[in-house]
Amino acid sequence: MCGIFAYYGQEKKSVSMVIEGLKKLEYRGYDSWGVAAANQDDFFIKKAVGKIGSYKYKESDFPESKMIMGHSRWATHGGVTEINAHPHSTENNEIVLIHNGIIDNYLDIKKNLVTKGHIFISETDTEVLAHLIQEYYEGDLAAAVQKSLKEIKGRYAILVMAKDNNKLIAARRGSPLIIGVNKKNNEYFIASDVPAFLQHTKSVIYLDDNQMAQIDKSGIIFKDLETDKQVEKRVIEVSWNNEEAEKGKHKHFMIKEILEQKNTLKKAIDQDDQQIIKIADEIKKAFGTYLVGCGTAGKVCLTGTYFFAEIAKKHINFEFGSEFPYFKDFIREGSLLIVVSQSGETADTLEAIEAAKSKGAKILAIVNVESSTMAREADHTLLLNAGPEKAVASTKATTAQLAILYLLSHACNGGITEGKQILVRTAAEINDMLNPRYEEHISKLAEKIKSVESMYIIGRGSNYPMALEAAIKLQEVSYIHAEGFAGGELKHGPIALITKGTPCIALVANDETKSDIISNATEIKSRGGYIIGIAPENNEVFDYWIKVPDVGTASPIVNIIPIQILAYQLAVLRQNNPDMPRNLAKSVTVK
Ligand code: AGP
Ligand code: GLU
Repeated sequence: MCGIFAYYGQEKKSVSMVIEGLKKLEYRGYDSWGVAAANQDDFFIKKAVGKIGSYKYKESDFPESKMIMGHSRWATHGGVTEINAHPHSTENNEIVLIHNGIIDNYLDIKKNLVTKGHIFISETDTEVLAHLIQEYYEGDLAAAVQKSLKEIKGRYAILVMAKDNNKLIAARRGSPLIIGVNKKNNEYFIASDVPAFLQHTKSVIYLDDNQMAQIDKSGIIFKDLETDKQVEKRVIEVSWNNEEAEKGKHKHFMIKEILEQKNTLKKAIDQDDQQIIKIADEIKKAFGTYLVGCGTAGKVCLTGTYFFAEIAKKHINFEFGSEFPYFKDFIREGSLLIVVSQSGETADTLEAIEAAKSKGAKILAIVNVESSTMAREADHTLLLNAGPEKAVASTKATTAQLAILYLLSHACNGGITEGKQILVRTAAEINDMLNPRYEEHISKLAEKIKSVESMYIIGRGSNYPMALEAAIKLQEVSYIHAEGFAGGELKHGPIALITKGTPCIALVANDETKSDIISNATEIKSRGGYIIGIAPENNEVFDYWIKVPDVGTASPIVNIIPIQILAYQLAVLRQNNPDMPRNLAKSVTVK
């Protein structure tokens, strides 16, 4: 849940390179930051509270260094202060460390180390690991790290350096760490995500769980932390390019990624038909299929259960990643877990995989990040092909995920060709819909409602989970209190919240749910609500109409797009940074 970027090599402006790399990772955590650079026989350390993106520096502020590591924090243990920011070091900077994750047993270890005379200055779990390594360090840093990690419970990606040692140690369990390689120059970039170093290299090595890397002047070696054996790792060429990971002419990643939906749907359905059919067969014969995801991906999964019910007449279960382990008793050999995730690194979803695997289930991962942990843990993987998604609020990955589940549900019913045809038409409709006039029409609404305290979204059938997703989108970037409901549920309680002028968005599809959702909108209007209809056709109940194309059962895919635009515009009008909403981070790698 943080950004890590480190460099080992001969580059002269290496500290600023690390700072620029960290800026690219800031979407992963942005409450404070810090860097440590090996400098003669000590470390140059700089830490600060706030976003690294707004840090202005001069090259001359930094020393030259061949080994630097940086961290952009998303606090889990200890407030947002300079002392709690990483890197953490022991007295006289003997050991310097950065960490992504949580050390569950840090209090026990801390108690023990205090009795041995260690003095702690921060409130973090991380500082404990620096001291533990110090306790075991006798000149061989890798050995001390390895011994310490044996005592650690929890998830981590760490980088460690020691005074007068000239080695950079990296290790991971449950949090991502990727190494960019330029072997010719003996140059290495270590980061939590590939886009951070794409401008320097596309050759990468994925560190796996329980593996450690040691980098020094003779190169890089890998070790398995459990068996203590050296391991050979493959260098992989990644397909993403640097431009895809940049904002280009757009003010924010969020709007860039929303507009990219002109093309991303087509790319998402560019899947091998035979593989889709094979997976559909597995779904059909599985002893229970579970769709599992978190946040937006969770809402996509819930929408998927409606697609399967409606199109394939098949019942599929759904659970959020964090709740899934409580249902693991129903999983057995022959069960299938379908995990949906943009990052492929969400800790709660990874735990669900662990729980399902322990019961013998098979795993299908629908993810955006190729070679992410989920993709590597799964028996089958379908890639979203959406390109890097950097705004914290998921947009293009969401519709790509919906499209893949929609396609799978058609394939389960022997109708892959029909499913593809509908999606190709949907993609073309989205391409037409996303134009400046459309954005302008939504911006007039944003202007009208920008100061409201609360808003509600209703939907029925497959548009009910989209109402829940709409609420997430509005909450996370506009900070307006927003809640989604099943249209029919309002009268059972929430309708009490409607007062004169309360904005309420109705997601309408041209199907059997239409007349009922219009009735629900009318019930709200009768109590003074201001009705915003997202629908293929206008209706007299709507106070404001946003047109969407009529794409039949694929309606959730188009209905969510105007909400994404509205959420973005509200964020900008309310002077929030839509790319980095408060308290959030792009990839939630802690439980
Ligand atoms: C999306 O807008 C959210 N930021 C969040 O709910 C996200 O979808 C969730 O954390 C899951 O992430 P993943 O897709 O990378 O697993
Ligand atoms: N648990 C650590 C802390 O609170 C690391 C958090 C992170 O991954 O950013 O400092």
